[in-house]
Amino acid sequence: MLRGMRILTGLQPSGKLHIGNYFGAMEPAIRLQSQGEAFYFIANYHAMTSLHDGPALLANTRELAVDFLACGLDPQKAVFFRQSDVPEVNELAWILSTVCPMGLLERCHSYKDKVSKGIAANHALFAYPILMAADILLYDSTLVPVGKDQKQHLEVTRDLAVKVNEALGEGTLTVPDALIRDDAAVVPGIDGQKMSKSYGNTLPIFGEEKPLRKLFMKIISDSTAVEDSKPTENSTILALYKLFASPSDYQAMVKSFQLGGTGYGTYKSQLWEAYWSYFAPMRQRRDEILADQGYVDQVLRQGAERARTAASNVLTRIRKATGLSV
Ligand code: ADP
Ligand code: TRP
Repeated sequence: MLRGMRILTGLQPSGKLHIGNYFGAMEPAIRLQSQGEAFYFIANYHAMTSLHDGPALLANTRELAVDFLACGLDPQKAVFFRQSDVPEVNELAWILSTVCPMGLLERCHSYKDKVSKGIAANHALFAYPILMAADILLYDSTLVPVGKDQKQHLEVTRDLAVKVNEALGEGTLTVPDALIRDDAAVVPGIDGQKMSKSYGNTLPIFGEEKPLRKLFMKIISDSTAVEDSKPTENSTILALYKLFASPSDYQAMVKSFQLGGTGYGTYKSQLWEAYWSYFAPMRQRRDEILADQGYVDQVLRQGAERARTAASNVLTRIRKATGLSV
């Protein structure tokens, strides 16, 4: 463990988790949880920029908690909490917005992309990076692992921390570093494009066996005849198999592609088997968690307490520096 390193990241509870989320965000976070003090949270305020359905938000939040714990988040190691359990984050967001030039937000790609996709441009969507900066700065985070798409939001966060420190005194806020996972491959979806909820091409981490198996059989392939050798470049089946199979099993599939004589259906079945057994321990853990009534609530309650304690240091400092309290 690296002393003094505080790792923080958030995931939005915006729907069923898929294997892109797992390999792109959850698995790296789980690996990092023993490297420093880890703070992982469910960004339910952020999800409200697009979801206005209370029961759905509550259910998604709970499902994300269950699934993240099932995948290996260890609440003894990481502080795991709901963003809304520390509502003080909104106070810091307000303070940050008082030093945030409009241009900084107007330049953010994520906002522009969402608006160009037809998502209604509400103020929260525009101010999204400020709340994200507050999430990070409220816990004196030093390292923030995020996907490439969040890089600009981390730059905004650093800018705002520097501005606050210039205005209110050095050391008021800790300037964090981003840990951009650009080495993490983009996981393709069943149509071969980047797997994403918005493209409807996802393979969920958890679900019923039969419909899941059907989804795997729908993964894109080409019309190469069974007896012919198959292209290995840009193969969605191979890219997905690599995530689940041992290196030798993966190499064996590559060889078999080159050799010909095996149909895509067989490869899809092999991929399915590898996926199903990869997540078997997680499924079992998930069933245990679901059977243990109250476990998730207890984890989140403890997480909220620990998060609030950590946040109170920063809040006291910033309230004093701003003149909001003595
Ligand atoms: P979606 O695109 O399905 O809405 P999110 O944007 O909620 O997914 O993703 C949360 C995090 O999961 C992202 O920051 C990214 O790190 C990771 N992620 C999502 N999709 C993929 C993918 N196809 N490949 C790798 N990582 C992904
Ligand atoms: N915006 C992030 C995403 O969509 C989620 C998030 C909210 C976050 N607050 C954060 C990530 C703070 C890292 C740190 O993926």
